[in-house]
Amino acid sequence: PRVVVLISGSGSNLQALIEAQSHDRLGGEIVAVISNEADAYGLKRARDAGIDAVALPHREYDSREAYDGALIKVIERHEPDAIVLAGFMRILTPRFVQRFLGRMLNIHPSLLPAYQGLNTHARALADGVKQHGCSVHFVTEELDGGPVVLQAELNVATDDNVESLKQKVQAREHLILPIAVQWFLQGRLQYSGEGATMDGHPL
Ligand code: GRF
Repeated sequence: PRVVVLISGSGSNLQALIEAQSHDRLGGEIVAVISNEADAYGLKRARDAGIDAVALPHREYDSREAYDGALIKVIERHEPDAIVLAGFMRILTPRFVQRFLGRMLNIHPSLLPAYQGLNTHARALADGVKQHGCSVHFVTEELDGGPVVLQAELNVATDDNVESLKQKVQAREHLILPIAVQWFLQGRLQYSGEGATMDGHPL
């Protein structure tokens, strides 16, 4: 199976996927990495791994629709079975989501449905929550709202700050994203309008 990964930045989650693939733990091949930021370090990680690395700068397009149209074309050229958003910091149009609905996963740094959107660590700390973590979910038209496939949770320490929490959460992202992608590529995860199932059981 063929995987396309979308990034915007460092690509540490991408690196976790690359490592899983190199140890035969992904269940497929990353055939392309696409970034909306041309200077994303993750593009270098892709090149160093011999993976097609494509910069598609969103600033070169005059609308979200135009950008997503170009992005769809680049993605489809690689004929993916799965699309993984790994720190892809763009709001996707409904047309884009519908195109890949059911085969697109995202990693989000919170225990969804809590803390959809941005600045999750600062918001969790401000609320004084005791538990925090990260989630892999199917991408739907609702931002960070799709059915959750896998989560990792951790206890927030009294001396945690945004940076320490981010580090702890990212370490767990690097564990759960490759697992969730492998499950999907093995055909164990299904998404329908009503939700998602794993091995036929509702998630
Ligand atoms: C990840 O921590 C993810 O939760 C968030 O953006 C970050 C991307 O980090 N959406 P990286 O580019 O994978 O290192």
